[in-house]
Amino acid sequence: MLDVGTFDGFYAFLAERRGAARVVAVDNEQYVAWVRARWGVELEGGEGFRAIAELLDSRVAYVRGDAMGLVATGERFDVVVCFGILHRVENPLGLLRGLAGVLAPGGRMLVETLGVAGDGRIEVYEPGEVYRRDDYVYWGFGAEGLSALAAHAGFARVTIDATPTIDGHPRILATLERPGD
Ligand SMILES: C[S@@+](CC[C@H](N)C(=O)[O-])C[C@H]1O[C@@H](n2cnc3c(N)ncnc32)[C@H](O)[C@@H]1O
Repeated sequence: MLDVGTFDGFYAFLAERRGAARVVAVDNEQYVAWVRARWGVELEGGEGFRAIAELLDSRVAYVRGDAMGLVATGERFDVVVCFGILHRVENPLGLLRGLAGVLAPGGRMLVETLGVAGDGRIEVYEPGEVYRRDDYVYWGFGAEGLSALAAHAGFARVTIDATPTIDGHPRILATLERPGD
């Protein structure tokens, strides 16, 4: 299992606890910048993950770097979790395409990201428009927009699982399936 944009590793540690044979967690630590801007808290990067890993005696492998860096390693995963990050990358189509490439044939990727109000396609935001002083939120995805993007990226099937509103913000959850061989 691969956890993309793991932050403190919540989903990676959960997957390990639930029996995933190998878990890799990747994060470029972009959050250091927006945690400083939003809350004035200075983080070094990775300290939350390391503290929890130690408490849990975890074997989750932490990779500090851009998610796209994993594409070149050749490792393949049957499940990829991509939560809270798609709206924070400059090239969401490139990220989806790259992650489709790290999935084993027939594998699934679970996506959770910022949505849009109603049935829109994809919206573009100004710096700080969604979260005050957070310049790293670029996009909101409607069901149609996310499905179209996933099709461009090579996914065979997209299921929109839910479109809840969390803390006043629309979110979208979907399952993207890679074609089998
Ligand atoms: C809002 S947090 C989501 C954390 C966690 N996945 C969750 O849903 O609770 C987004 C995370 O993605 C990371 N991130 C953003 N762009 C990234 C990239 N290109 N490659 C790897 N990680 C990235 C950020 O540093 C941050 O830790």
